[in-house]
Amino acid sequence: MKHQKQTKHWVIHGTGDNCVDKLIRHPHIHEAAKYIRQGEVVSFPTETVYGLGANALSDEATKGIFEAKGRPSDNPLIVHISSVDQLSRVVDNVDDRARTLMNAFWPGPLTIVLEKSEQVCSLVTADLSTVGVRMPDHPVARALIEVAGLPLAAPSANRSGKPSPTSAGHVLHDLDGRIAGVIDGGETGVGVESTVLDITQDIPVILRPGGVTQRELTEVIGQVNVDPALSMSTTEHVSHDFKPISPGMKYKHYAPEGELWVVDNRNGTSKMRAYIKQNITEFKREGSRVGVLTTDDGEQDYTEADLVISLGSREDLHTVARRIYDGLRQMDAAHVDLIFCEGFSTDGIGAAIMNRLLKAAGGRVHDVR
Ligand code: TXA
Ligand code: MG
Repeated sequence: MKHQKQTKHWVIHGTGDNCVDKLIRHPHIHEAAKYIRQGEVVSFPTETVYGLGANALSDEATKGIFEAKGRPSDNPLIVHISSVDQLSRVVDNVDDRARTLMNAFWPGPLTIVLEKSEQVCSLVTADLSTVGVRMPDHPVARALIEVAGLPLAAPSANRSGKPSPTSAGHVLHDLDGRIAGVIDGGETGVGVESTVLDITQDIPVILRPGGVTQRELTEVIGQVNVDPALSMSTTEHVSHDFKPISPGMKYKHYAPEGELWVVDNRNGTSKMRAYIKQNITEFKREGSRVGVLTTDDGEQDYTEADLVISLGSREDLHTVARRIYDGLRQMDAAHVDLIFCEGFSTDGIGAAIMNRLLKAAGGRVHDVR
């Protein structure tokens, strides 16, 4: 088989206590960096999700990312750097607004879309004139980039279309035998991907909600718009002629094997839960295996379901964000036919959670009145 490789599994314990300075001497980091310099593809943890990294300055190396993931080539990759010194290899001009954002949010879950430099290969940017750049807030990621001495193009390390990986186990499930290795730094912290912000326009536009919220951005740089395409249901994006600013928006994303339905919470949690329970009864009667993604206060409500997973407290959306992809993957492992996921508020990080859920559900939403 063309893709069959011996995928290395490098475990680095207690990465939270490790600083970049210490990790740049770690033998696993050196071995992984050597693979990167040889043009191979290596997965590594970031604070958001696991990334799948390769030399962003080499077309040949980045091609390996698209092959391993099965990713459509018109979906550009984010370039990861470990210090602002590396910016000059990726972009030619950094204006005051970009500097302000970098000072406020880097390292951290903010991807800034800027005009690209000649050095960034065209596969990374899918022939766009812009490039998305971020500095991850994870010591393993930064040590790897530092030791490789290269900016790394890295999408999330899942098979294209699947839920993003928040642990090395998720990465191996999807990519074992297809990549050179994965650095295992434990579970990621934020759990959903970075916010993608396009600042090539007069008023910056959020192309993907993520770890940095709209309010946090507004506090630092004033008005920030949200791409109108984000409020459309995903089903409206499926046409191949549609060319959104962020090309990734048109594809199926984050989707579990089971049919996922998001149930809206706008008319209250008890109405939502009564509705889900009634549906479970009906689908069980037809012989389907049904799973529910809920929160701690709802875990006892769904006695008829085959699998019930709590994503944490409803009051703590950060924990929900951290667990959401693992929850979807556990549903797959249990081979449920149908998944009902309770809806969440779109405040703060909730905007990113609901964006991912709606995409994972392919726009399947139950309105509960
Ligand atoms: O948190 C993250 O951002 C993770 C970790 C690994 O850093 N990476 C990630 O990459 O989520 P990926 O490839 O799964 O998603 C990148 C998103 C896509 O929606 C893509 O279309 C958009 O960023 N993007 C990348 N470059 C772009 C550009 N030049 N213009 C507009 N959108 C861009
Ligand atoms: Mg992704």
